Amino acid sequence: SAPLVIAVDGPAASGKGTIAARLAAWLGLPYLDTGLLYRAVGMAVLRAGGDLDDTGLAARMARDLKLEALCDPELIGRAAGEAASRVAFHPEVRAELLKLQKDFAGQPGGAVLDGRDIGTVIAPDAPVKLYVTADPEVRARRRWLQLTGRGEAVDFETVLADIRKRDARDAGRDAAPMTRAHDAVLLDTSLMDIEAAFDAARRIVETAR
Ligand code: C5P
Repeated sequence: SAPLVIAVDGPAASGKGTIAARLAAWLGLPYLDTGLLYRAVGMAVLRAGGDLDDTGLAARMARDLKLEALCDPELIGRAAGEAASRVAFHPEVRAELLKLQKDFAGQPGGAVLDGRDIGTVIAPDAPVKLYVTADPEVRARRRWLQLTGRGEAVDFETVLADIRKRDARDAGRDAAPMTRAHDAVLLDTSLMDIEAAFDAARRIVETAR
């Protein structure tokens, strides 16, 4: 049978990362959180003292990216998420990261990837596509709980404003904008806890494959 590739897209704090990781564990498939690639590039630019709008610098950082950089715990912070969205805007950066992601999706045994453009650009032929979303207020609350739980002092309104700004930038850019692929199944997790969301995702996979 054809390799099982599962594309999971959606906005920040929708639950897509947890769902993708759990689907991968359930199916015994390799998993790639593609947001980490953009986060690592953004942090590399910041650490070099560079400007996130500097296309050439960001593209070089993407080209020179080492996989070890993906283990940096700083990558889950607010600064990295914002920097990621800024560098992800540049088509040149996206082009540098394309092969690694396509190769990952093309593994003979299949794979699970999550991001913004997996179902549209990275793995348009994936047999299973999910677009995971939730209301901005719900996502902001989840992200706020996560950040304050890690000891990052930030108020809810700031997190909500960050989420709205990032959604608008990710959905509004010309290069591989965040969007639901026409054949992706929509999963709105606004009223679901993670168990319910994973159950729903598992049913979608079982139906689709
Ligand atoms: O998913 P995560 O929040 O870690 O992604 C961080 C940022 O990286 C996103 O806001 C988006 O701008 C960018 N990204 C992207 N394409 C992907 C994954 C992430 O543009 N496939």
